[in-house]
Amino acid sequence: MRPRILVLYFTQTGQLRQILDSITSGIADKVDIDYAVIEPVKPFPFPWTALQFFDAMPETVEHLPAAIKPLPADIFKKEYDLIIFGYQPWFLNPSQPTTAFLQSEFIRIFKDKPVVTVVGCRNMWLHAQEKVKGYLSGVNAHLVGNIVLSDSNTNLISLLTVIRWSFKGQKAASGMLPAAGVQDVDIAGARRFGFIIYKHFQENNLIDLHRELLFQGAVMLNPGLVILEQRGIKNFRFWAKFIREKGGPGDPERAKRVMMFKNLLLVAIFILSPFSSFTALLKRVMKRHTLQKDVDYFRHLQYEKGRI
Ligand SMILES: Cc1cc2nc3c(=O)[nH]c(=O)nc-3n(C[C@H](O)[C@H](O)[C@H](O)COP(=O)(O)O)c2cc1C
Repeated sequence: MRPRILVLYFTQTGQLRQILDSITSGIADKVDIDYAVIEPVKPFPFPWTALQFFDAMPETVEHLPAAIKPLPADIFKKEYDLIIFGYQPWFLNPSQPTTAFLQSEFIRIFKDKPVVTVVGCRNMWLHAQEKVKGYLSGVNAHLVGNIVLSDSNTNLISLLTVIRWSFKGQKAASGMLPAAGVQDVDIAGARRFGFIIYKHFQENNLIDLHRELLFQGAVMLNPGLVILEQRGIKNFRFWAKFIREKGGPGDPERAKRVMMFKNLLLVAIFILSPFSSFTALLKRVMKRHTLQKDVDYFRHLQYEKGRI
């Protein structure tokens, strides 16, 4: 029998669909694949204005997402051997449509099923993946693999290009800056992961899938980013609460606080970042063993609530 796979995802610019298509490209003739797209009732803007972009932070961080459309009914009538679940982080959490899906009744599609998560991001996905693991474990899904594709440029360069992409809609390289997002070569290379998934199906051994995915570079993790993300999430939680005191999404009453958050974030990133990189480096040296344990944990699949 041919394995039946559901590919379930949200994407705003189409990047994640490209990644998923690359993963499945080499095995599409050997498996039956259905696609289901998570769609917000009211699409998020693209390109974003700065106010729209940063106004999406509080509800993303507090997991109070905007509504999504119902998923196609026919996927609930089929039995899938595997679900490939593609999502992207927004503000260190799953994107709002992803969270809306994970909080909805449609999450039942994952019940008792093997799941491979596929993350397409800039480079900060750890906290988002912990949240996804939490939702999945709540319905007894079996996370059997995780594939992360991120922008391999330095943190600062990827920030500059993601800003150009988000606010101007321009992904292509310009001036001194490279193209934004996950590099084309890495998207094309994701094809290898599909073969690994298929091989483990044939061997009836999804339990060992992630070990081989890791061996093939499915999760590359820079230890410095663990520290930056731990710091970032604390600040985001504070600002989310502070902004929401003035109203809900789009409320003009909170615009001043949203722009304060934006300005401070940019100062933290572009002006303070050399200092914070230095203190992160010190921490890396002084807490080498703890950090190595963290890196091992985040590269693997187990779930310890409150780890980050
Ligand atoms: C509002 C917003 C916040 C984002 N926050 C993060 C983040 O915290 N970490 C990260 O690695 N990428 C972040 N990104 C980049 C996305 O994860 C993703 O790579 C990009 O939006 C393209 O995804 P798409 O497939 O939805 O088009 C953010 C993007 C948006 C639009």
